[in-house]
Amino acid sequence: MTQKGIFRNTIGALTLTLSMGIIAETAAYADEGMWLPSLISQRIGDMQSKGFRLSAEDIYSVNQASLKDAVVLFGRGCTGEVISAEGLLLTNHHCGYGQIQKHSSVEHDYLRDGFWAMSRKEELPNKGLSVSFLERMEDVTSVILEGYTPELTEAQRDSIVNVNSKQLIKEVTAEGKGLRATVESLYYGNQYFLFLYREYGDVRLVGAPPSSIGKFGGDTDNWMWPRDFSIFRIYADKDNNPAEYSEDNVPYTPKRFFKISLGGVREGDFTFVYGFPGRTQEYIMSEGVRYVSEISDPAKIALRTMRLDTQKKYMSESQKVRIQYSSKNAGVANAWKKWQGEMKGINRLGTVSAKQEYEKRFAKWAEGTEYSTILPRLDSLYGALEPYTFAREYYSETAASVELCSFAGSVAKKLAGGDNEGAAALSEAFYKDYYLPIDKESFVATMSAFAKDVPEKFHPEYMKKELAKYGSVSNWADALFGESLFTDADKVAKLEAADSAAMYADPAVRFANEFRKWYASDVYPYEKRLNREITLLYRDYMRGQMEFEPKKAFFPDANLTLRVAYGSISGYSPADGTYYKPQSTLEGIMEKDNPEIFDYDIPQRLRDIYAAKDYGQWAITGDNGKKTVPVCFIATNHTSGGNSGSPVINKDGNLIGLNFDRVWEGTMSDIEFDPDYCRNISLDIRYVLFTIDKLAGADHLLKEMVFVN
Ligand code: ARG
Ligand code: ASP
Repeated sequence: MTQKGIFRNTIGALTLTLSMGIIAETAAYADEGMWLPSLISQRIGDMQSKGFRLSAEDIYSVNQASLKDAVVLFGRGCTGEVISAEGLLLTNHHCGYGQIQKHSSVEHDYLRDGFWAMSRKEELPNKGLSVSFLERMEDVTSVILEGYTPELTEAQRDSIVNVNSKQLIKEVTAEGKGLRATVESLYYGNQYFLFLYREYGDVRLVGAPPSSIGKFGGDTDNWMWPRDFSIFRIYADKDNNPAEYSEDNVPYTPKRFFKISLGGVREGDFTFVYGFPGRTQEYIMSEGVRYVSEISDPAKIALRTMRLDTQKKYMSESQKVRIQYSSKNAGVANAWKKWQGEMKGINRLGTVSAKQEYEKRFAKWAEGTEYSTILPRLDSLYGALEPYTFAREYYSETAASVELCSFAGSVAKKLAGGDNEGAAALSEAFYKDYYLPIDKESFVATMSAFAKDVPEKFHPEYMKKELAKYGSVSNWADALFGESLFTDADKVAKLEAADSAAMYADPAVRFANEFRKWYASDVYPYEKRLNREITLLYRDYMRGQMEFEPKKAFFPDANLTLRVAYGSISGYSPADGTYYKPQSTLEGIMEKDNPEIFDYDIPQRLRDIYAAKDYGQWAITGDNGKKTVPVCFIATNHTSGGNSGSPVINKDGNLIGLNFDRVWEGTMSDIEFDPDYCRNISLDIRYVLFTIDKLAGADHLLKEMVFVN
């Protein structure tokens, strides 16, 4: 969220900070909430009353090592946790998927077969991958708003915020040594927090199970019960400081790592998830929710269905294409399925009408106050915004996802600018994973939808001309894919800056550039202005909501900063007459095992282990009294995208699982959390250990870990 707004004065911000402290101990709704670790003392009483046995200082401390020192932001969108004194790091298979895929080829298909480094020497470096530890976080509202007075304009406020943020970031990172800082706006700019990280750039792949384990159930079981992990190791220089990859680097020594609990989980047990949720919008107006569930989600789902169908067809015909498109396909499928759950969840909960009711009460309360006109103003801004957002979303799901054109546009720009090296790197990555028939068929399907569903007013002139010239989208595609020289790697390799005229005339480059120009002139400026006004109003509406319900504890919306969510192990009922137990076992994997279906074809070794019941110390007694292995469990923690890979911790602060998802019926929790339907899904840590030990035979890794009961 941007931090623009009409906040009246600095004093106001401080008062607000204090009042958020005071409301602390009043309960939020059952297990809803993603709390700031530095303020966790405000919730610790509630956590302890639910079974937690540690203190606020154990969770977050700047004076001593605490649990936060074992949690990392993995890349820029997942979480990971340190599980040994030698920098061993656990995260999800899908978080490391890009890296595993990059190391894979038909000869070394680590996606299919898995990968295990049997010694440190075999651990694989990953260019561009880093992990960040949070050093500290701090309320810096008064510093960031220093110099601001109520007479100033919003633009002036913005520039004060910018200048002060830059200055602060410069000061706190002066020491270098991998320090990185951000200033984040919370509560739509009512508050500002500094986050200071130490970022490590040498993170190596240690192990990943085969996809048939790590991605069991594939996209069919995504947002349900897949099972999902991979292992990395953080390396540092000799002084334990961050360093780019070097052979001389040594395993990182953490301030703190998680001990692993072998005690297992039972319904009702306290759980706590420590990680980096990406984005929630819990306090938005009904109109914003209506757009998501009635317009945006359905449209995007339909467009992605077209692309997924095409990918699936070609991937099932060839192993090469399957490897090439596995990561892209997972990316497209993931949000596609989430949106379906989200839309259903919002409709089932009646979030739009519930919010409308709330807004009526708010409006009544707000009569005669500074908040009295917010809702009607927001409403009309949403009305004005909708066509622009719709056009942008359509653009991004159609024209902007044509692979050839995006590639051609970027590579032409690099070549024209003389960056031959950059162009060569782009080309190498592109051609390794490109299959033209998929791209072309997706072009035809999605661009036809664009022509049909996006209002004329938003049809780029260029598109109209091409369609008039070729008569149909599919003829247009024949011409574009047939004539573009960017379909030919050898030709592209020979291009030079001097050829820029020819490059810019190429149909693929033109397509990318014309659409980009159209977006930049006809959509973006309007959308940006309206969004800015909306965000400004949200600053007031947020404050208004806090005053309207002074007893409610408001957690700040997620923004990929470190948060604590807590709850308990709990089953749920997704539909009438159906109940999902809180724990799943190996039996579920065996029930689905099917050599004919790629996503359910488990390794023969697992079949053998199952037949022999050779579970070693990982065996538990199942509900039917027979020996089995625990696999996943669900709980009521409020999580979001970005929480993947997060440690799931028990009442004693020990690791019991690895968060990887939410149940499909609960994916509307980014907008409304429903204690009956919202569950986070975790891999039971004992299944991770079972896989490492029995399946991978990498038990040397277990020797690094510390186990408790
Ligand atoms: N649902 C998981 C999360 O949102 C991702 C699972 C992996 N992706 C996939 N397409 N199967 O990150
Ligand atoms: N699978 C998600 C992630 O990657 C987690 C979620 O959305 O619950 O972060």
